[in-house]
Amino acid sequence: MSGEPGRFPRPEGGAGFATRYNRWRYNLYAPVYDRVVAAFFAPRRRRAIALLAPRPDERILLLGAGTGLDLDYLLGCRRLTAIDVSDGMLARLHRRAARLGLEVEASVMDGQRLAFPDACFDAVILHLILAVIPDPVACLREVERVLKPGGRVVVFDKFLADHQRPVWWRAAANQLTRIIATDINRQLGVIVSPTTLHIEHDESAGMGGFFRIVLLRK
Ligand SMILES: C[S@@+](CC[C@H](N)C(=O)[O-])C[C@H]1O[C@@H](n2cnc3c(N)ncnc32)[C@H](O)[C@@H]1O
Repeated sequence: MSGEPGRFPRPEGGAGFATRYNRWRYNLYAPVYDRVVAAFFAPRRRRAIALLAPRPDERILLLGAGTGLDLDYLLGCRRLTAIDVSDGMLARLHRRAARLGLEVEASVMDGQRLAFPDACFDAVILHLILAVIPDPVACLREVERVLKPGGRVVVFDKFLADHQRPVWWRAAANQLTRIIATDINRQLGVIVSPTTLHIEHDESAGMGGFFRIVLLRK
């Protein structure tokens, strides 16, 4: 992607059907999202952000930020940016940020086509987005582009192990889960290998390693 001034990717408009569908369904889920996921994922969020170890003056991007459940663990951070395709989710993030006394620059944006210049973020948080976004490789390539050299990415999500093929029932279940919630058969290695990011740390975050917390570095 070009680093020339004024040549950043277009933020919206060209979004495909899958991205428009995500916007539609997350606008629908927004009023109940926190009640469904907040408690179950809270310890994993805390652990993932502790691993990222953000410093107060670092510029941090929350990509697919949702309702901002990660903000509870970013209280000392002064340069937070959040993007999401769903304005319904971001409206809740705005309210949470105000409650927590945090300043967050939030905008509706496609995580596969970030409207930011090259090398402008110190760290990126990818929580429960790589298994949801239609093209996770495009997303991670954009993350790679906007990260400063040496920048970190923390991923918390569900993956199929790189050496596995999905058993028949898992492949069948995925036809439903990817429409209503999330893809359950994406492989981290397949998503990371087209980039220059390297895996610095990878740990199980529950359900026999189905959930993982991973730290990547540029
Ligand atoms: C499962 S939620 C995770 C939200 C938040 N990161 C969290 O941990 O609670 C997935 C989020 O990704 C957003 N999303 C889906 N497709 C996207 C895209 N192409 N660009 C940016 N955000 C997207 C959805 O609107 C939703 O808020």
